[in-house]
Amino acid sequence: MTAAPALRSLCRSSRALPRLGHVSRPVCIRQARFNSTNSSASERKTHFGFETVNESDKEGRVAGVFTSVAESYDKMNDFMSLGIHRLWKDHFVSSLNPGATNPVGTPQKVLDVAGGTGDIAFRMLQHSHTYNANPNIHVTISDINPAMLEVGRQRSLALPASHQACLSFLEANAEKLPSKIEDNSLDLYTVAFGIRNFTNIPAALREAHRVLKPGGVFACLEFSKVDKYPLFNAIYKQWSFSAIPLIGQIVAADRDSYQYLVESIERFPSQEAFRDMIVDAGFAVAGQGYEDLTGGIAAIHKGIKPL
Ligand SMILES: C[S@@+](CC[C@H](N)C(=O)[O-])C[C@H]1O[C@@H](n2cnc3c(N)ncnc32)[C@H](O)[C@@H]1O
Repeated sequence: MTAAPALRSLCRSSRALPRLGHVSRPVCIRQARFNSTNSSASERKTHFGFETVNESDKEGRVAGVFTSVAESYDKMNDFMSLGIHRLWKDHFVSSLNPGATNPVGTPQKVLDVAGGTGDIAFRMLQHSHTYNANPNIHVTISDINPAMLEVGRQRSLALPASHQACLSFLEANAEKLPSKIEDNSLDLYTVAFGIRNFTNIPAALREAHRVLKPGGVFACLEFSKVDKYPLFNAIYKQWSFSAIPLIGQIVAADRDSYQYLVESIERFPSQEAFRDMIVDAGFAVAGQGYEDLTGGIAAIHKGIKPL
């Protein structure tokens, strides 16, 4: 974490810059510009892909995308990532080792935020029940979008009954979780490929911090930056911006939603900038705070709520 203070001071000194750069600028600068004014949400600006929109409009636009893609979402993930998203999700879940409690069998409460169609939650249940022989886990899939939740609910019917018994669904905005999710109540908070769609990421991180117990873990799997490998980056960008919207058009008859998805990936902060946001929300991170997957196409960030 030696880079963090330097990055933070860079962010602080950059806040006065009148004109901001393009997509690779650190999010701390962007968030300062987009989120820290006193104006109302209808006037404050944020981004929706490459478009600048009113904050109050973003949630509805994102909802439109996921309502539109819900039915084709799982199939499209396989096409777009050539199946690699499955390996990332497997690795993400194994790295969290759900169900491994000390003492063995201690109940574990997990919230999978932006859980959509259930990929992460189902893997966590499988890992806890089978790998750790621990059925004493409860996973709540929460998502703002009822259409995505409904696909998850339907898919969950194929799970073993013992897994279904450990699962619930919740329609909720990650930026303002319902008060029934009490302070200091969860052991693990996961969010996979969801956080880049949020209007106010710092607010969601603060909510994560609120609901986790001291010692609880925040874990995020999200698309990230491949900047360290320029040639690979160029090929990846070409694939993202040419192939993905086209596949969206052919497979799901929905080019615009997949155009938004690739733009939102490009807009998401770098590994280091996002790590600093997690630290700013009050989490402690180990080492550099993140793990790159496939050269940084995706990254896992983890933070621990201090005891
Ligand atoms: C790309 S999907 C990810 C689904 C799943 N986690 C996975 O890995 O396959 C993103 C999800 O984020 C949800 N989402 C977007 N904004 C949200 C918000 N503010 N609060 C909760 N969920 C949100 C969307 O409805 C969508 O289901």
